[in-house]
Amino acid sequence: MFDDLLFVNLNKESPVVKSFTPVTFYVRYVKIYSKDKNDLLSQDKWNIDSDYMFDYHNKWSTMNFTDQIVWITGASSGIGKALAIAFSQAGARVVLSARRANELETVRQECRNPEQHYILPLDLTETDTIAEKVSLVEKKLGSVDILVNNAGITQRSLVKDTRIAVIRKIMETNYFGSIAMTQAVLPRMLERQTGRIVFISSLTGKFGTPQRSIYASSKHAIMGFADALRAEVWYSGVRVSVILPGFVLTNASRNALTGDGSPHATLDQTTAKGMLPEKCAQGILKAIKAGKEEVIISGKEQIMVYLKRFFPGLFNKIIRKIKVT
Ligand SMILES: NC(=O)c1ccc[n+]([C@@H]2O[C@H](COP(=O)([O-])OP(=O)(O)OC[C@H]3O[C@@H](n4cnc5c(N)ncnc54)[C@H](OP(=O)(O)O)[C@@H]3O)[C@@H](O)[C@H]2O)c1
Repeated sequence: MFDDLLFVNLNKESPVVKSFTPVTFYVRYVKIYSKDKNDLLSQDKWNIDSDYMFDYHNKWSTMNFTDQIVWITGASSGIGKALAIAFSQAGARVVLSARRANELETVRQECRNPEQHYILPLDLTETDTIAEKVSLVEKKLGSVDILVNNAGITQRSLVKDTRIAVIRKIMETNYFGSIAMTQAVLPRMLERQTGRIVFISSLTGKFGTPQRSIYASSKHAIMGFADALRAEVWYSGVRVSVILPGFVLTNASRNALTGDGSPHATLDQTTAKGMLPEKCAQGILKAIKAGKEEVIISGKEQIMVYLKRFFPGLFNKIIRKIKVT
């Protein structure tokens, strides 16, 4: 991400300071150099709250999601597929949804105890069909304990070149689809006073980059929705988690829409260097298990979140030059 611009030296977090509040504060020392490393552009000590720090090297296989009903959208590929397998190995009963039934069946067969899981093809852009799908799941398996709103499509096009139909498709999938799923499972969760709704957002839920205008808008919108929902349902016992992955090695860039709606059909270098989806899934399970509300799971590209927060002027200079494909 920074290859054409900066050398970033992100020291290991140290030391860990426990405060009197339930939040743990970490301190990071950050130095930012020019690409030739001759100029030290910035050096600072940042306090970052614990929700932004994540150690995903722990064992996930010991996590106990036994007999929890976990519904994952976008389970036919990438992060959703890795999540389905990880949840099955942790003892959950998984409902796998996406548009391609064949792919869902292949993933189901890769899950532990395939017969315990259920494939339910759906298209998130057809929001009218979702309430009926929820009834099917509840009849077949019982109430949903965890809904993971993971399905999504991204974009590779400039604002000036992007057709309104493409904009609508991205928003319908990433935003309206996730909201329709959430609204459909929520009544039963509220009735039972338990349940967790998880949104797979993105670092672009915190900042926009060139060629991701609509994708970033959809992820920002989800973050706002999740904040409001979390506050609304807190006293009913329902919980809301938002996960912000950085680059993950999936088909996302191949499936990304260009301005005319055709697929980008390219594995971007940034994506190719991304984290493995299995590792991302481990982090997501751990975050859910720990009851985290907002978690970044990312490589060094997460530094942009902190730059935006603490050095917005520098962020704006960098973001116009970064490599986005
Ligand atoms: N990969 C990354 O670098 C990255 C980084 C940050 C966040 N994310 C987020 O992670 C999530 C998963 O993406 P991924 O990287 O795993 O990409 P992916 O491999 O392309 O998977 C996307 C999934 O969404 C499903 N999907 C797409 N449109 C759908 C629709 N209309 N209805 C139902 N399902 C639909 C796809 O299945 P079908 O084609 O079978 O419908 C597929 O299972 C997305 O929300 C993405 O924004 C990814």
